[in-house]
Amino acid sequence: MKLIIDTDPGIDDAMAIAYAAAAPDIELIGLTTIFGNTHVHQSSRNARFLVDKLSLNIPVAEGAPFARGEDRHAPSEHVHGPEGFGDITEIPQIGENHAQPAAEFLVEMARKHRGELVICAIGPLTNIADAIKLDPEFASNLANLVIMGGAVFCPGNITEHAEANIYHDAKAANEVFAAPLPTVLVGLDVTLKTLYEIADFENLAQKSPEVGGFLCDISRFYLKFYKEIGGLEGCGLHDSTAVIACTHEPMFEIVETGLHVVLDGPEIGATRVNPARPPVRVCRDVDGAGVVRLFTERVASLP
Ligand code: BDR
Ligand code: CA
Repeated sequence: MKLIIDTDPGIDDAMAIAYAAAAPDIELIGLTTIFGNTHVHQSSRNARFLVDKLSLNIPVAEGAPFARGEDRHAPSEHVHGPEGFGDITEIPQIGENHAQPAAEFLVEMARKHRGELVICAIGPLTNIADAIKLDPEFASNLANLVIMGGAVFCPGNITEHAEANIYHDAKAANEVFAAPLPTVLVGLDVTLKTLYEIADFENLAQKSPEVGGFLCDISRFYLKFYKEIGGLEGCGLHDSTAVIACTHEPMFEIVETGLHVVLDGPEIGATRVNPARPPVRVCRDVDGAGVVRLFTERVASLP
């Protein structure tokens, strides 16, 4: 499967990109970056660092620095650390960004790989909304758009009502759900059922010292946050679960429904069922242990 990941790395983003690099059923053709866990220039630097670490020969196209709607964004330093990689703060600048901005790159790749390209969006949806605006055929050129975002049947994480990726650009997310795109939503409804514990990271580091070791190092900070906030003994494999949904839909229980996003008031950023909207395949349940197993098995094959 030809895949582009739209990302704000970010600790769980790094895990998702490593998974995609290891997956034999994924041909990763590029990364596009977005503000979110960090500012966009940090996302791009981190993405280029990961491309190098994973020996991928793919472009990194930088995307939007701000939300389309009202900008309520502050980098999630308390979750992902000051530079996006936990306690690791010295991250070298490797290579350069692609000449095209993210939305143009997405539009061009969707046209080139018409009917074949899957985009997995694991940050705020600004670049996707921009691509929809840029090319009226973008939506129909895509094979699938798989989004890590939202909390349809459960509480949010950044507020009681909203999940972080949707909250950071509620307007863009609402525009994406209004478009006739073949969309799969992988929200907190399922990603919090894929807990990855310190023992899982240590096992991964042993099997894959270079990549797994790096993921283990950056995750210590992230695990501390999960422990402090929810008393959890692990972190959700949020972004990796979305990448896994691209190729392993049968691992998920899916309901089809339209969605909109609340655009103001105390519930801003909440994802709400709206039957008048185009249908989205919303993941309601998951084989969480299966996702954890698959993630470990594949990332463990990396150096
Ligand atoms: C999502 O928000 C970000 O912090 C994570 O990288 C993930 O994409 C989880 O709500
Ligand atoms: Ca992310």
